[in-house]
Amino acid sequence: MERPLLSVIGGGAMGSALLRRWVAVGVYPAAQMALREPDLDKAVALQQELGIRLLADPSQAGESEILFLAVKPQLFPAVVAEMGRLSATELVISIMAGIPLQQLQQAFPKQKVVRTMPNTPALVGAGITAISYGPGVTPMQVEQVEKLFRAVGEVVTVAESQMDAVTALSGSGPGYLAVILEGLIDGGVQVGLPRPIATQLALQTLAGTAALLQQENLHPAVLKDRVTSPGGTTIAGIQALEQAGVRGALMQAVRAAYERSCQLQGS
Ligand SMILES: NC(=O)c1ccc[n+]([C@@H]2O[C@H](COP(=O)([O-])OP(=O)(O)OC[C@H]3O[C@@H](n4cnc5c(N)ncnc54)[C@H](OP(=O)(O)O)[C@@H]3O)[C@@H](O)[C@H]2O)c1
Repeated sequence: MERPLLSVIGGGAMGSALLRRWVAVGVYPAAQMALREPDLDKAVALQQELGIRLLADPSQAGESEILFLAVKPQLFPAVVAEMGRLSATELVISIMAGIPLQQLQQAFPKQKVVRTMPNTPALVGAGITAISYGPGVTPMQVEQVEKLFRAVGEVVTVAESQMDAVTALSGSGPGYLAVILEGLIDGGVQVGLPRPIATQLALQTLAGTAALLQQENLHPAVLKDRVTSPGGTTIAGIQALEQAGVRGALMQAVRAAYERSCQLQGS
């Protein structure tokens, strides 16, 4: 049988969501993609759903051109050990949080390595992935990496030194926005809306505002000025937000997450 082009190691939340999307979008034919996942029930279910191949033995991972690491970071040393020598792999892509390029390169001295940080909206094709390339990655390999992550949202290239900042903004961002949404929904309920309607209003307001800012390339301050009429409702709401220090709180959230990410990196 022809060797797979891409092998994914770890069929958990991220690995399975990415594979689903790659098959749906047709990034590679399903038969050219393989999965290594120790939970056999999970692995067989994905194989049957997607038509991908399963790697019975971890050492088979090295027969594919691209190796995609989607296991928890603490499992990285064990995974490297069980895969052994990678005979045919040219490119290793990692989504493992906090594993530096240098550590990837040490583990895979003959391959080109790429460190990435996708975020949870990738699960519905609306993510953003920050990418840092190791030395020597060719333009064709850059294209291959971008093609994989464009299938689940947007991509940006960053210096590796910016990965902690990326983690603090787009990595942890869905958590911050979930808290903000909860507050908006509770606010709607407080002033008399049924919870399901308040939820629908809040979710679509967030999604719609982001779409408007993106599509019209608007600065948030311009939008804010547009929607605040003199003596109106929105400026009254904004005054309450400013009094509560919402901007400072959000900046502080990003800083706290950044510092925590740096700490974890060092531990
Ligand atoms: N979730 C996110 O939003 C997100 C965002 C950015 C980056 N990441 C990164 O993505 C990686 C995966 O996260 P996740 O949320 O998808 O975790 P997860 O759901 O725990 O998935 C990890 C998968 O790897 C499997 N696994 C364990 N040992 C293995 C081995 N030796 N060989 C192959 N597979 C093995 C696990 O199987 P078992 O269940 O049987 O243990 C599990 O299915 C992490 O490194 C994380 O830092 C995640």
